[in-house]
Amino acid sequence: MEPGAKPVSLVTPNGEPPLLIQLGKHLRACLDLCDALEQIADQLPENLECQKCIEVASSIYPTVKQSHEFEEKSLFPLLIDTSKPDEETCKTIQRLHAEHWEDESFAFEVQDALMEFAKDPKRSNIEALAYMLRGFFEGVRRHVAFEWEHVVPAVRRNLMGGAAANA
Ligand SMILES: [Fe+2]
Repeated sequence: MEPGAKPVSLVTPNGEPPLLIQLGKHLRACLDLCDALEQIADQLPENLECQKCIEVASSIYPTVKQSHEFEEKSLFPLLIDTSKPDEETCKTIQRLHAEHWEDESFAFEVQDALMEFAKDPKRSNIEALAYMLRGFFEGVRRHVAFEWEHVVPAVRRNLMGGAAANA
């Protein structure tokens, strides 16, 4: 491909760039994780299978980290026109990057707390755990919603040279 050319050949027959299909999978995985954590928070402290908590807990950090890595390496570079980077887009990327960093740190804490609960539910501070779970999944949902609404359309426009924006 010529430098600067739009990778329109990367569009699938249904018109969606594979990169956005991949992004959709990552974002859906994050939302599925949020749903699983909400279910756990709603059921605390009873009606919870420890094994289920361990399974969900062990998926928290990897799910979030994989999504962030994909976005930072494959997606964010497509948002910036390096020949004339606009300030607003640069600020948005910086903010999303900061949110990724915060969410990853939080994911570690939530993962640990949920593991501890699964190992010994009676020793856990249930209120603190529920508060932590809700703070985490609400933040991740807000972040994902912003990316669906603003980042995905911008990347689609850049990939398809504006053709898909009116489709
Ligand atoms: Fe993100």
